[in-house]
Parts: sequence; structure tokens; C-alpha cells
Amino acid sequence: MNKAMNASILPIDDESLERAKRILLNDGLVAFPTETVYGLGANALSDGAIRAVYAAKGRPSDNPLIVHVHPSFDVQKLVYDNDIAKKLRKAFLPGPLTLVYKSKGVVSSFVSCGLDTLALRVPSDGGARKFLEYVGIPIAAPSANLSKHTSPVTAEHVYNDFADKIELILDGGRCSGGIESTVIDVTGETPVILRKGLVTAADVKSVIGRCEYAAENSALNERSPGTKYRHYCPNTETALFERSELEVAEALYERCAESGKTPFFMCDEIIAQKLRGKFNVLNLGADGRQMASRLYFLLHEGERLADVIIAVKLEPSDEVTMSVNNRFLKAFAGSK
Ligand code: TXA
Ligand code: MG
Repeated sequence: MNKAMNASILPIDDESLERAKRILLNDGLVAFPTETVYGLGANALSDGAIRAVYAAKGRPSDNPLIVHVHPSFDVQKLVYDNDIAKKLRKAFLPGPLTLVYKSKGVVSSFVSCGLDTLALRVPSDGGARKFLEYVGIPIAAPSANLSKHTSPVTAEHVYNDFADKIELILDGGRCSGGIESTVIDVTGETPVILRKGLVTAADVKSVIGRCEYAAENSALNERSPGTKYRHYCPNTETALFERSELEVAEALYERCAESGKTPFFMCDEIIAQKLRGKFNVLNLGADGRQMASRLYFLLHEGERLADVIIAVKLEPSDEVTMSVNNRFLKAFAGSK
């Protein structure tokens, strides 16, 4: 790791996969696509590899990692299984859902930061599956962004954060889902959603009959997007407005433009229609899935194109939009 690296971005084929495997077995890191966001993969069985992930991301050492496996992998090698997990796997996997089980302690203890649980994910993305099948080991992977920065949904986004820190980025194109997997604790009688995503509480209830949100119990970060939870942030100046403050937001836009800066609005389709023709707009779209697939992509576009991103709050009416809103508010939490 002491020589300066310059990450290669390669399509997923036998040659790049062989190189990926060699890197991973030497405790190196390989970025790979999934249907949610790109992951920064490491050999989950190796303490050294897991330490390297935390170091490369600048990630706090008390935030555990998700282990990724191929659909054919027997999860009982790594965790204690149960009926709720079996039902959820059958209904939703492979797909954008991570289940937290009691761990058998097989993977490096650094993966779960000393907790007795292990988060497992089985991605559906074709490139992710080829990669996991080829390397044949469980892969611990956080999202492939520097800690606090916007999650990556293209190989180029990964390159911008890790060009000099990793050797190889497997390129599977743009991620379709666009926000991270739903994380559900299945160690108890009732599944508990720890992180919202594209698989919703309603989806889980339709299979298990019950489901809770951790945030409802602990009144944690959902309601106070304060600086403590700064996360997903673009490296750009930002401002955040209520929907009722559109005129104030427009005035800020004009002031920015007059001072020679390039402002962009970020908003949903309804607000975008009001702004159309007069302002630069990063339009998140009309429904939850569309907004999920565009949010991180457009935050990265904002970094590239704008000096200031002026965000207008969303109006979440369904669970998927609530999941998007959770990231959106954190991304703009440090705004004026
Ligand atoms: O979609 C995804 O999940 C992406 C792709 C790459 O798979 N990965 C991802 O990883 O978002 P990361 O590291 O950015 O987020 C992992 C989340 C964190 O909220 C972490 O606290 C939680 O999973 N987590 C991991 N292990 C856990 C455990 N044992 N108990 C509770 N939460 C856990
Ligand atoms: Mg992340």
C-alpha cells in the first residue's frame, strides 16, 4: 500500500475477476457494482483486509460492515438461521435487503465491530453475482465512498474518491436502485428495520405479519438531521428550503448567479415544473423509485456542475419516498 496507486476501471470479465480475486486474497480492496450502490469489497475472513477498509474510507471503527455472498452460498456457514429470516430471504433475495443475524463468529471480528451479530446481503445485480461467485469468499463491503461523502452509483464516482487508494474498480454501469439496501434485524420475534430502503415495512408485513422501525423506539437520528449525522454530503455548498419558501430559494439562486456562481436547484418533479425554463434544475423525479435511482447520481452531478446546490424539501407520501427522504435530509443536513 505504500506505492502510489491509480485504480483501473475494468469491465467484468474473466481477466478482471481473476485480478480481483488475487487482490482480495492479498488483503487488498476491490470496488464492485450492486443494484443499490457500489461496494468497497474486502475478504471478510481477514482481519488485515477489514482494517484496510476502515482506513481507506476513514470510517468510524464502531460502524459495522455488511458481508456480501452469492445466492448459492449457504448462510448457515456464517450465521444462526431462523424462520423469519428464511421467509424474508425467500420473498426478497437476491435483492436490496440486508438481514442482521446472530453471528457464528467465522468472519473477522472487525466486520461487526465486536457485536455478536452479522449483517448479510445477497445482491441481485448480475455483475455483483459474477464477482461473488468467482471470488468464492464472503466479501465485506461498505458503500465505496469516503466516510460522510455521497454514495457512488457509477464506477467514476468510486474513482473520484479512491483513485489513489485502491487498485481495481469493476465497472457494471450505473446502479439501478440508487440507495442502500434496507437493513433489518431478524434476531428477535419481530423484524426491526434499522435502515430504510427499497424493501419497505409494508413488504415485510405482507410476508411476516409484523415489522417495526428501530427509529420509532429509539427516537434517534430520523428526526434530527443535525451535524452529528452528517452523511451522504456532496462536496459543494448547499442550502435547504421548505416547499413553502420557494420564493426565498429563488432569491438566493439569483444572488448566487449575480455573484458569478453557478447555482442548481435540487427538487422533485412538482417543484421542477414550477422552475422549468428559468433555472438550472437537478430533477429527482415524480415517484419514490425514480427519486431513489436519481438521488446520489444527481448529487454527484451537482458536485460536477454547480457551485451551490439549493435543495427544496420532498413531500414523502409513501415508504420508498421516506427512504429517499432519509438520505436527502442527511445529505443537506449541514446546509444554511
Ligand atoms: O446497499 C448496501 O447495503 C450497500 C452495498 C454496497 O451493498 N452497502 C452499504 O454499506 O450501504 P454501508 O457500510 O455504507 O452501510 C452498512 C449499514 C450501516 O448502517 C451499518 O450500521 C449497518 O449496515 N450494519 C452492518 N452490520 C450491522 C450489524 N451487525 N448490526 C446492525 N447494523 C449493522
Ligand atoms: Mg455508506
